Amino acid sequence: MKILVTGGAGYIGSHTVVELQQKGYDVVIIDNLSNSTKEVIYSIEKISGKLPEFHQFDLCDENLIGKFFSNNNDIDGIIHFAAFKAVGESVEQPLKYYHNNLTSLINLLKYMNEVQIKNLVFSSSCTVYGQPDMLPVKEDAPFKKAFSPYGHTKQICEQIIECASSVHNIKAILLRYFNPIGAHDSSLIGELPLGIPNNLLPFITQTAIGKRDYLKVFGNDYDTPDGTCIRDYIHVVDIAKAHVVALERLQNNKTNSSCEVFNLGTGKGFSVLEVIKSFEKVTGVKLNYKFVDRRHGDIEKVWADTTFANKVLGWKAEKGLDEMTLSAWNWEKKLKK
Ligand code: NAD
Ligand code: WQD
Repeated sequence: MKILVTGGAGYIGSHTVVELQQKGYDVVIIDNLSNSTKEVIYSIEKISGKLPEFHQFDLCDENLIGKFFSNNNDIDGIIHFAAFKAVGESVEQPLKYYHNNLTSLINLLKYMNEVQIKNLVFSSSCTVYGQPDMLPVKEDAPFKKAFSPYGHTKQICEQIIECASSVHNIKAILLRYFNPIGAHDSSLIGELPLGIPNNLLPFITQTAIGKRDYLKVFGNDYDTPDGTCIRDYIHVVDIAKAHVVALERLQNNKTNSSCEVFNLGTGKGFSVLEVIKSFEKVTGVKLNYKFVDRRHGDIEKVWADTTFANKVLGWKAEKGLDEMTLSAWNWEKKLKK
């Protein structure tokens, strides 16, 4: 089986490529390296012993995708990670986000239909829920107005896939990730934020290693037990494994509809302070942090109802918070070296 992984040089994509290869799949990556580096491809090889086939180009270029598929007529399924993901940047440059995230998806779907590749796994996000009315949040919770153009692209992409799969010979599984963190046990691949990180874990590890002076904890007056926001943090390797399970579900014709949706979380929420405590406990490093004002657009609390993913997809997150924070730290130390 040959699987096309778009965005396979990125954070979640690279971990998924490793899991696929370890299950015996051949992997072809398309990535334009707009948010990743070629070294990742060689790090993947170091872990799995197999160098994935790599094509560097932009999925917004319809001609290049056409050329790719005419030279590669043996693809059995696609996992589509490639997208821009920086929430703040999407507010400043919305068209860049709409263009990249929508055009790349539409191009892929068009060629999937033309060359008759049936199976698609798509990276969605808990951001489609906004601040849900009920917690834990289930897959059938309504979309709220998106907080950012990035979040809006995920809502639109989901709708495009749902619509295309209802009329074309395409079956899709949409995976809504909660907060992926951590790194591969080998510390050979992990998250590589460019510039100042927006997300909590890279900011924590960069502060602890001395790249940043202190972590700003955004708000301590939320309606939560310790006043800081709550999220469902999930190990990136657990997320990667879910993609293999989803792909197998598609390949084995186990899906109940042309477009299924699953939450990928642990089902447990942790506050920012709990994440800091876990980090300090497993690493023995005291973190310098200060409480500052709330960050505009932050949701107070969100965590997943994972019942549907556990029962129907047959997947469950296995790794706990301490494993996540420790692996993120080991990766940061490896990067320093
Ligand atoms: P990432 O930026 O590390 O990986 C995305 C990869 O796609 C990068 O290597 C980038 O170079 C590539 N890419 C982007 N646009 C492209 C294009 N037009 N053509 C070819 N390659 C392109 O991001 P990630 O964290 O691995 O996220 C993967 C997916 O998961 C994204 O769709 C993201 O929106 C989604 N997601 C991420 C998170 C998260 O917190 N990391 C949470 C929910 C959903
Ligand atoms: C987590 C918590 C912050 C940084 C984002 C995207 C979302 C999805 C997942 C892709 C929050 C707090 C953070 C810092 C802090 N991505 N924090 N100081 O905001 O839940 O979601 O990633 O789909 O779309 O918006 O993740 O890691 O930024 O924040 O106190 O320096 O950490 O306030 O409570 P978030 P995050």
